[in-house]
Amino acid sequence: MSDREEDRTPRITRKSLLRAALVVPAVPLLAGVPALASTPSGQPLAVTPESCDDDDLTPPQMEGPYFKPGSPLRTAMVDGAGTRLTVTGYVVGLACQPIAGALLDFWQADNAGAYDNVGNRFRGHQFSDAQGRFTLSTIVPGLYPGRTRHIHVKVQAPGRPILTTQLYFPNEPRNSTDSLFDPALLMNVQQVGSARQATFDFVLNVPGTPPSPSPTATASPSPTPPGGGGTWQPYQPYAVGAQVTYSGLAYTCQIAHTSLPGWEPPNTPALWRRR
Ligand SMILES: [Fe+2]
Repeated sequence: MSDREEDRTPRITRKSLLRAALVVPAVPLLAGVPALASTPSGQPLAVTPESCDDDDLTPPQMEGPYFKPGSPLRTAMVDGAGTRLTVTGYVVGLACQPIAGALLDFWQADNAGAYDNVGNRFRGHQFSDAQGRFTLSTIVPGLYPGRTRHIHVKVQAPGRPILTTQLYFPNEPRNSTDSLFDPALLMNVQQVGSARQATFDFVLNVPGTPPSPSPTATASPSPTPPGGGGTWQPYQPYAVGAQVTYSGLAYTCQIAHTSLPGWEPPNTPALWRRR
């Protein structure tokens, strides 16, 4: 089954043109703007958005038929053979401010172009760090009929709506024939030995405010036993199945996480489901 469910004309924006023409930048970084996404060796790969106004918002795309809630918390989801791929980048808001604690939930096809709709192969979620940065270790997804190569992702800043979108690879023959393909969603990809390193920065519709002090609670939460009970509280590790109440309503945890202010259950439908 293809997840092509609609035709969409690729949106050409200033940012997409920047990305399409992207080379390793020679321009100096702007003070206060998140630094370049970089390789582990520190080599810059991509331009972090020079501005993050409405025109630069990461565009949404269809979810497709293969999303499954409850993915495991992990930054590495290499569950089979394939060309190793590392994707790094930042989650930023309209003022290019880093967004800490943003939920990123990735899912993709395996090397043969198949999705695991029973288990959680090539599915995983994580949270951006205090600098708004994320790192995903995976493989280059395989092709399946009707689509070009892509990675699905949901991104949610604390207390904000979910952005559902897809990331694409440059120089793919099928990019020109896939009506969902949007050059604004091209990753910057480099071959490094036998592996590939990619970068992408998500610009979310979050008003620009000075970065607030970020709690360190997002790192490696150790889930509390399911069941839990009690009233929802921030800075609390919740496991899948944990049950809380908030404003008199009962919720069940869908994704293991450590709660933050702004992640109240009514604000985070990806994390909490009413029961
Ligand atoms: Fe897909």
